[in-house]
Amino acid sequence: MEKVAAIVLAAGKGKRMNNKLPKQYMQLCGNPVVYYSLKVLEESSINEIILVVGEGEEELKRKELIEKYGFHKVTKIISGGKERYNSVFKGLQALQKADYVLIHDGARPLITSDIIEHTIDIVRKKKACVVAVPSKDTVKISNECNIVKETPDRTKVWMVQTPQAFEYQMIKQAYEKLLQKNDKNIITDDAMVLETMTNFPITLIEGSYQNIKITTPEDIQIAELFLKARL
Ligand code: CTP
Ligand code: MG
Repeated sequence: MEKVAAIVLAAGKGKRMNNKLPKQYMQLCGNPVVYYSLKVLEESSINEIILVVGEGEEELKRKELIEKYGFHKVTKIISGGKERYNSVFKGLQALQKADYVLIHDGARPLITSDIIEHTIDIVRKKKACVVAVPSKDTVKISNECNIVKETPDRTKVWMVQTPQAFEYQMIKQAYEKLLQKNDKNIITDDAMVLETMTNFPITLIEGSYQNIKITTPEDIQIAELFLKARL
């Protein structure tokens, strides 16, 4: 039986949120933000979950989250690294054995089981896929002086979200290569690692406009509205 794992990222500091408690642990309708992703993954066909938290928080989060809510699929709680890609790489290394891996931002609480199952289905067929939505706005590319350089065709512009899912060995090898390089400071998502290190085609899966990433204070209010509408 093929094993599908998930890595949930909760090791960021949330600078743009500007809140003492990192945004992934802020309260949303009575539960921490990251609880919602863990709950959907726990109830999905995922076999194993690796939770990546801030350094030194492992035991606290085991008690506060995993034991409290009884998330049995979480097999490891590990500490992350400085950048998102460092945290992902530590998660990939912590996975003992898996055929496919879904990488998900703990700061995206509005993920649904439909999107998770669809992603699992597509990654089995295509080996690399990312959840995304078509851009509603026109996007401009600028130069360093904020002068418009070009306007990509909007029908081909996508806003990428998570989960991003890959054949485990392929993404692990791409990350190993990346971590050996010197200039890696512009890496902002997992697909980009594969794009930079290989020519492997990455399939876009249409997700949901509700699958926002909690980033700035108003996102908490928006997420609460969406969550309440689901109850
Ligand atoms: N993340 C992580 N390790 C890091 C940086 C980010 O695990 N070193 C996680 C965050 O916790 C979040 C996800 O990656 O769930 C997406 O990152 P982002 O929204 O950028 O979160 P932060 O880096 O925490 O926020 P900011 O960029 O505003 O500081
Ligand atoms: Mg960040």
